[in-house]
Amino acid sequence: MDQKDLQQFQEIVQLILTEEKDHPVAKPVSVEELSDTVNLTLQDDPISDEAFYNEFQTLVKKTPKTASSSFFNQLVGGRRSRALLGDLIASVLNNSMYTYKVAGPMVGVEREIVNKLAQMLGYSDHASGTIASGGSMSNFMAMVLGRDAKSNSIQEGVMHKMILYTSEASHYSVAKNASLMGIGRNQVRFIPTNNAGEMEMELLEAAILSDVESGNVPFFVNVTSGTTVLGAFDSIAEASKICKKHQLWLHVDGAYCGSVIFSKKYKHFLKGVELSDSFSLSAHKMLGTPLSCSVFVTQHKEQLYESFCSDASYLFQSEKDDFNPGKSSFQCGRRNDALKLWTLWKSVGTKGLEKLIDHQFELAEVARNYIRSNKDYTLFSFNDSVSICFNYKNIPAKMLSKELYLHSQLMVSHGSFGDHHFIRLVTINSDNSEKEIIDFFKTIEQFVAENTLILHT
Ligand SMILES: Cc1ncc(COP(=O)(O)O)c(C=O)c1O
Repeated sequence: MDQKDLQQFQEIVQLILTEEKDHPVAKPVSVEELSDTVNLTLQDDPISDEAFYNEFQTLVKKTPKTASSSFFNQLVGGRRSRALLGDLIASVLNNSMYTYKVAGPMVGVEREIVNKLAQMLGYSDHASGTIASGGSMSNFMAMVLGRDAKSNSIQEGVMHKMILYTSEASHYSVAKNASLMGIGRNQVRFIPTNNAGEMEMELLEAAILSDVESGNVPFFVNVTSGTTVLGAFDSIAEASKICKKHQLWLHVDGAYCGSVIFSKKYKHFLKGVELSDSFSLSAHKMLGTPLSCSVFVTQHKEQLYESFCSDASYLFQSEKDDFNPGKSSFQCGRRNDALKLWTLWKSVGTKGLEKLIDHQFELAEVARNYIRSNKDYTLFSFNDSVSICFNYKNIPAKMLSKELYLHSQLMVSHGSFGDHHFIRLVTINSDNSEKEIIDFFKTIEQFVAENTLILHT
């Protein structure tokens, strides 16, 4: 890296850190204003270093700050410095994670994460896995494994009406993946949830039986550990009984909250996970690594290789398959997304990861207690979740969320469950303390008090 850019890098990082504090919610730039605010045009001629650095800094300044103490919008937050260090170095090294020859010890880094997680899950010695580009990709890989374990679709394509099951509250990637893998969205059965947002297991079994009776081929059940809106946990143990009985692949989508595996206090939410066929968690969510870092693990190493390996003599020229991860991943060239989790885990230890998880649940409790003790709020979510869903003074959640953002107060999302629409606060930023959570509510209260007109027109 040239010295000028290295120096500029430090300055820009400093700028981000300062901006995060001074303007935790950057003034939004509307799509209409975009071209007048930042010069994004790619021109034929080079520009001077000075002009480049200036324009680059403006671009950075105008970009939303997801690690700020006012960002509660999505399931990422905060900044684990050691993880960031690992991620930046991965970029500087720029290895591709397909072969040992090219990635060297970095393959060992990835293996260590996968093996350690498999061990913690109680998976057998036949477990293997990969770091995937995200929760959607992990779900995709699981679905492909389940499909291939059930049929000879690898060579022949999908010959039957193959059916998969997931809850109504599960992530949208499941349905999207079904179409991508040739199963088709119509073959996804969305199982209703109970009042707490957890999949109704009796309805799951009823749906499977109905499909069998119709001559369809059930093959896969997705349970969610931390649903995207409510943060609910489906019962893995119950789903496992049904899957064993009907010989279906059981995948645990722990993208959001699967990291509770690191907490002695909360890992009981994953009871029965050792009985699942595959599992994934996204370290860029609860563990706070930079995007993206999704760990995908399966008990069926052979199936992983069967589904994802294609021989390529120009690429795989040395070492055993375990150390040529290109034989068990979707991509060929693949970024080293393992290093950031390793640098974090290595430095804080498993106990340090546990603290991050426990802290997020403590912050969630602070938020729920605040809501419960104030009659202007209505709580819609449940205990044991880091998603806190509520309304304030019955103000439509969509409007409140939008105005808070437009006025650079807070970035917080809204969602719905059943007939209820609400603000969804997530306490996923481990850098926050009780103060930031109380400030969050105080900011809403003050904003509403000062902007009654906006909110009622
Ligand atoms: C439960 C669940 N699964 C999967 C995903 C998708 O993860 P990604 O955005 O990394 O593809 C999400 C994202 O929020 C999620 O909440």
